[in-house]
Amino acid sequence: MLRRTLPSFARPSLLCRHMSVVAKSLKYTQHGEPQDVLKLVEDKLSDPTDKQVLVQILAAPINPADINTIQGKYPVKPKFPAIAGNEFVGKVVCVGEEVKSLQPGTHVVPLASGLGTWTTHAVYKEEHLLGISNKVGLAEAATITVNPCTAYRMLKDFVKLSPGDTVIQNGANSAVGQAVHQLCRAWGINSVGIVRNRPEIDELKKLLQSLGATAVLTEDEIRTSDIFKSGKIKRPQLALNCVGGKSATEVSRHLNDRGVMVTYGGMSREPVTVATGPLIFKDIAFRGFWMTRWSKENYNAPERKQMFQELCKLMEEGKFVAPTHEMVPLEKFKDAAAAALNFKGFTGKKFILDMSKC
Ligand SMILES: NC(=O)c1ccc[n+]([C@@H]2O[C@H](COP(=O)([O-])OP(=O)(O)OC[C@H]3O[C@@H](n4cnc5c(N)ncnc54)[C@H](OP(=O)(O)O)[C@@H]3O)[C@@H](O)[C@H]2O)c1
Repeated sequence: MLRRTLPSFARPSLLCRHMSVVAKSLKYTQHGEPQDVLKLVEDKLSDPTDKQVLVQILAAPINPADINTIQGKYPVKPKFPAIAGNEFVGKVVCVGEEVKSLQPGTHVVPLASGLGTWTTHAVYKEEHLLGISNKVGLAEAATITVNPCTAYRMLKDFVKLSPGDTVIQNGANSAVGQAVHQLCRAWGINSVGIVRNRPEIDELKKLLQSLGATAVLTEDEIRTSDIFKSGKIKRPQLALNCVGGKSATEVSRHLNDRGVMVTYGGMSREPVTVATGPLIFKDIAFRGFWMTRWSKENYNAPERKQMFQELCKLMEEGKFVAPTHEMVPLEKFKDAAAAALNFKGFTGKKFILDMSKC
């Protein structure tokens, strides 16, 4: 929700005067493993001037892309010294004299990427922030700009889906996957999820079904399932892939004629292999999606504003919840980063750095 504008002469108490805020930030000066290169450092911040805003960061998630950026394996390369992190929800402390759209107390999320968010406080430009309702939960707001927006765009921009249509996705328990299930539920679309098998598979299936998944199958089950052949569920027109390798090939085989597979991640680190038969005889298409690129190209587009409004409304109504997560104090970042990097086990949950009590 964008906030009302007040003339600056009417808001003298909103301005910052000698705030002397000391920010505790997770900074790095070279690429490497997060546990090795991130250091918790203190910096005194200057008061915001002109169109700048002083923000107290309340919560900021650890996403796979944040880890890859620190490792130097992501297309976004920060200037050193860099503060890690890309998403957050924060509270405006005070504003520069030319700020028009935000006032102290307003909750904000980033509109721009790579701002450096694993910190207790930061001074950002007004144009890089979006004010949202304080009624949106902290975990939901902290994780709104990457995964829910990615899910939203992939469901809207590649295939025209109507109620009763079907989407299939692998990595269906990922944060993006959980967002896909919830949006599909809100829009009346069947959401078929594929996950890796594990001892707790029954609990995982129940959890994803409670979020709106129509059916959840393991990678083995989908190979032999007749879920689409039998007509139980309409064949999918859209497939979403964040895994690659055999998993992507298998998922793409279930697409309907002229269906589209959108690849947005490569968690297995294996290339996407295309089965020749479906490619030729069903004329299926393979596309890629990167939220960062879409956001840059549509920075002030009405579609972007509408997307945030719709997501915030669903979150306020309790129809869209944050992915399974654990809040971790900033000081415990090493444990959280190590757990987020745990490639041997299953992902389980997202870690969100909690700065609300700093
Ligand atoms: N293109 C974009 O704009 C965009 C936007 C957002 C996210 N992403 C990407 O989407 C992916 C998911 O992000 P997220 O934040 O939703 O992640 P997340 O919540 O951390 O979930 C990671 C997912 O990857 C699966 N996974 C991990 N290693 C795997 C492997 N070796 N083989 C198969 N599956 C594996 C996990 O399943 P298990 O439980 O079985 O481990 C889980 O479903 C990442 O690659 C991320 O970079 C891309």
